[in-house]
Amino acid sequence: MQIPKLIFATNNFNKVKEIKSVVGSSIDIVSLADAGIEIDIPEPHITLKENASEKSSVIHALTKENCFSEDTGLEVEALNGEPGVKSARYAGDGRSFQENINLLLNNLSGKTNRSAQFRTVISLIWNNQEYFFEGICKGQITDIQYGEEGFGYDPIFIPAGSNKTFASMSMEEKNSFSHRKKAIAQLVTFLKNIQ
Ligand code: IMP
Repeated sequence: MQIPKLIFATNNFNKVKEIKSVVGSSIDIVSLADAGIEIDIPEPHITLKENASEKSSVIHALTKENCFSEDTGLEVEALNGEPGVKSARYAGDGRSFQENINLLLNNLSGKTNRSAQFRTVISLIWNNQEYFFEGICKGQITDIQYGEEGFGYDPIFIPAGSNKTFASMSMEEKNSFSHRKKAIAQLVTFLKNIQ
C-alpha cells in the first residue's frame, strides 16, 4: 500500500517536528517549506475550527493536493477560555512567546484556579472533502515558568498526570500527553480505515 502524502499547511517548524515524530513513516508529511510554498496564511476567525479550515482551504486551492492544517489554543478557565483562539497574539500582533507568557501569568496572578487546556483542531482535506479532528490536553498553569524545550506556552503548562511542564519534557514525553498528538492520531486512524 502506498504511503499517503499530505501537505501540512503551517509555517510553525515546531508543529511540523512534533507531528512528524508522531506519524513516523505512516504518512509522508510535506511542510510548506519542503513544498516550496511561501505564504503567510491568515487566521482571521473567532474559532479554532474556522481558522484550521481557512488554512487548509488556502493550501488546497493553491496546490489541489491532499493537505491538512491545525489550529491550537490554550484555554484558561479563570480567564473565561482566553487566550484561546488568540493564543499566538495574546500580547499583541508580532509579540514573542515570552511576552505572551508574561501577560498570561500577570492576568492569573492571585488566582487559585489554575486549570487550563490545550485544544487542537485539525482540518484535513482528503480527495476534495474536508474532515475535522480534535485533541484536548487538560492541565494546570504554573506560578513560574520553567523548562527549555518545546515552544509557546510549554514553560507554564503541566499536563494532568505529570508534575512537570511540557517545556521540561522530551518531545516523546510531551507527545504522550499532548493535544496535538491526540488529534493527529485520529487523522492517522481515519486514513488507515479509508484506504
Ligand atoms: P497557532 O495554532 O499557530 O495559531 O498557535 C497558537 C499559539 O498557541 C502558538 O503561537 C503558541 O504560542 C501556542 N501553542 C500552540 N501549540 C502549543 C503547544 O503545543 N505548546 C505550547 N504552546 C502552543
